[in-house]
Amino acid sequence: MSEHSAPTPTPTPAPAQQSTRVRSLLVDRIGELVTNRPELGDGLLGTRHRAALVIEDGVVAWVGDEASAPGADVRLDAEQGCVLPGFVDSHTHIVFAGDRCEEFTDRMAGEAYRAGGIASTVASTRAASDEELEATARRLAREALFGGTTTLETKSGYGLTVRDEERILRIARGVTEETTFLGAHVVPAELAGREEEYVALVTGPMLSRCGPLARWCDVFCEEGAFGRDAARAVLEAGRRAGLGLRVHANQLGYGPGVKLAVEMGAASADHCSFLDDSDVAALAASGTVATLLPGAEFSTRSPCADARRLIDAGATVALATDCNPGTSYTTSMAFVVALAVREYKMTPHEAVYAATAGGAAALRRDDVGALGLGMRGDLAVLGAPSAAHLAYRPGVDLVRAVVREGAIVSGR
Ligand code: NIG
Ligand code: FE
Repeated sequence: MSEHSAPTPTPTPAPAQQSTRVRSLLVDRIGELVTNRPELGDGLLGTRHRAALVIEDGVVAWVGDEASAPGADVRLDAEQGCVLPGFVDSHTHIVFAGDRCEEFTDRMAGEAYRAGGIASTVASTRAASDEELEATARRLAREALFGGTTTLETKSGYGLTVRDEERILRIARGVTEETTFLGAHVVPAELAGREEEYVALVTGPMLSRCGPLARWCDVFCEEGAFGRDAARAVLEAGRRAGLGLRVHANQLGYGPGVKLAVEMGAASADHCSFLDDSDVAALAASGTVATLLPGAEFSTRSPCADARRLIDAGATVALATDCNPGTSYTTSMAFVVALAVREYKMTPHEAVYAATAGGAAALRRDDVGALGLGMRGDLAVLGAPSAAHLAYRPGVDLVRAVVREGAIVSGR
């Protein structure tokens, strides 16, 4: 953990779903087990075949050959499918109201994406009741869970007033412990041209009310959002408030966001669609994860991040959905894996690793993203023989079962 690592989050309620809690769970008849642990298997994914795994009291207690598996209270038959760690989606914005399908449709007909589109979701979100916002957040968290996502980060940023940012984070805390304060998403319309005033609000009264509800502080450092100095002021205030740091960086063009993230010791620089050599070198030499969001590039018809250059330089890469109504309305990490393989030229194994262990690194979590002994018992069972099928069979819902903290999740 780095000097700037975030405090341990306070446990908050899980999203509503049925789950079967048992003291011990045996998952057997696993065709391919992805552990992400080199000591437990082969290659980058620590893969083993004809395997079994036991979860006790919510954590992985045994991994080995099926033939020597111990007994347990409950058995889950993987039917020779692949079992992999639950996806860690380290970047979403699921507390919002409204729909921007029209904007998407216009983009697909040639319109450009602009950061200003955020204003329309801000207006809908401010006008929505807590119940409406909560219902959307829970629906999307549940959709993600059934798609195999067992850890999910989400942020504020569609309120942009003290009251609205605070209520968004309260609602976010009802679905996940990984909450991020993104008051500095854009300057709201009512303060147009008064960025200094808005930054003072964000770093002052807004942070005082929102900080206790968040684990992380984020800023959109981009042309049309916040420049280097304003972004640094937001991150410094977030750090003083005890929050870990993340940055929306280099999404729409080249700029200072990535280097600022590295300089501030941020856990993650997200988007990274436009990187020059010095950005790649800075990420590779740092503990800042490059979180790539191919769903956003897909939905905005933007150039793709150069994942190969980052990986080859030695940077840690994570994949996430960026689920939001403007630029990436998907909760599907399987779709993100498939996009990364096709568009980023990542191997299927690199993409699966980035969507699990990579996401955990981006959240500085050492209890999720792998199926080593003592890790949280979070996994997905695929109706397919290998993890590579996630990219090989794009658009097909391969997730047959999900286990979170040793509990079988059901009730879709
Ligand atoms: O990650 N880049 C900034 N925020 C979101 C987009 C938000 C929106 O357009 O509503 C993103 O792409
Ligand atoms: Fe985002």
